[in-house]
Amino acid sequence: MSDTALPAALLTALSELLGPTGLLTDAGDTDSFCTDWRMLYHGRCAAVLRPATTQDCAKAVALCAEYGVPMVPQGGNTSMVGGATPDASGKAVVISTNRMTRIHTIDHADLTMTVEAGVTLKAAQDAAAAEGLMLPLSISSEGSAEIGGILATNAGGNNTVRYGNARELALGLEAVLPDGQVLNLMRRLRKDNTGYALRQLLIGSEGTLGLITTAILQLQPAPRSRETALCALADPQAVLTLFAAFRKQDPAAIQAFEYMSGTSMALVNSLIDGASLPLSEPAPAYALVELGSPRADDSLRTLMEEVLGQALEDGLVTDAVLAESESQRQALWMIREEHAEAQKRAGASVKNDVSVPLSAIPEFITKATAACEALIPGIRVAPFGHIGDGNIHFNLVQPEGMDPKDFLAQDHAMMDTVANIVRTLDGSFSAEHGVGQLKTYMMPSWRGGAELDAMRKIKAALDPQTVMNPGKIFPQA
Ligand code: MLT
Ligand code: ZN
Repeated sequence: MSDTALPAALLTALSELLGPTGLLTDAGDTDSFCTDWRMLYHGRCAAVLRPATTQDCAKAVALCAEYGVPMVPQGGNTSMVGGATPDASGKAVVISTNRMTRIHTIDHADLTMTVEAGVTLKAAQDAAAAEGLMLPLSISSEGSAEIGGILATNAGGNNTVRYGNARELALGLEAVLPDGQVLNLMRRLRKDNTGYALRQLLIGSEGTLGLITTAILQLQPAPRSRETALCALADPQAVLTLFAAFRKQDPAAIQAFEYMSGTSMALVNSLIDGASLPLSEPAPAYALVELGSPRADDSLRTLMEEVLGQALEDGLVTDAVLAESESQRQALWMIREEHAEAQKRAGASVKNDVSVPLSAIPEFITKATAACEALIPGIRVAPFGHIGDGNIHFNLVQPEGMDPKDFLAQDHAMMDTVANIVRTLDGSFSAEHGVGQLKTYMMPSWRGGAELDAMRKIKAALDPQTVMNPGKIFPQA
């Protein structure tokens, strides 16, 4: 065993509880748990704990709490805001859920599935699909992101426009509180007004109030027909006009409505293998539209063709391609889902995961683009995102040839420039990625006064020692 900051008695107790596969202390084994997907944060930890059951997790948490050891819950380690990365002190343990991978039940009568925290979203989607059902949550990192982390951050993604965020899909929850008590909220009821909604408090708390171990998720019947199209348009206003045209015909049919700017699309086309643009020429803006229906007839195809036909005739859409097979559909989605990866390959980037009312999106993109281009000449403004629910990833990629460190040194200036515009439009500085450690400094000015005060009181009540995911959400006092 390597050097670790843990007291010897705690180490012995954890080792007896978790066994060799459940307790990692060698730096070679723990390093990957201490760096985030974006490689922005490089922390250290005293150990990685990998409990295989809720009971072991609860005992491990109780032991760490007894010794006052900070704990960082971690799922698939896909946070965009450093939410699951320990600090550099090396005092904390990471508690990984990646051995809690059981899918307990899929219930056709209740349309639910009961899954452990470490099940990846993709595995949960596949298990539901194998039963003719659908878990209506989809995010770009679904191959690695795990259910526990998804609920802890209240992930949104591509289907929020139709089915809501992760919060709306969780009917039941089990979590380990900072003192090691198991909070059992596994009630799978649509109606349950019995005091404070603790389930909703845990969801979106970013692991600061406890560690989610199991969940009951709401499923839907799998759609029996689906239509997917990629459209080229002149600007974000045109994308919104197209969205309104679909919404007017059949709002319930819209399963996803995504926006990609010409700049972000060009990065994907040039940096990702097999992701060339399936249209005749590049455009300033694109929409990826997906319609779904429980009916197996061709009514969706008719709807898609009618709306797009009219939009092409009006000059609103300048070009479009419809998926003619499941593999073509997946190829269109791959282009959208590789946006984060392409931007990572393009160099340093600053992510502004913002939301504004739909009507304000064009003004927001115009103003924020001008402000960022004035701030850093040569900056590549590459927005994309879930335009149907108002969430734009207003991502900024470093100028070509610039030292990434020089670009990142100005991250707060860029974030504040964008956030100030978001504020004038009644938006939010963090739509779906959460606050993590990246945006803690923004909390006082955005959520100060009574709101942050109430959050601090809740945190202090449930975690008086501040051992659960310290340094996240709350700015250091
Ligand atoms: C996505 O929707 O692909 C991610 O949430 C966005 C990002 O990389 O900013
Ligand atoms: Zn997103």
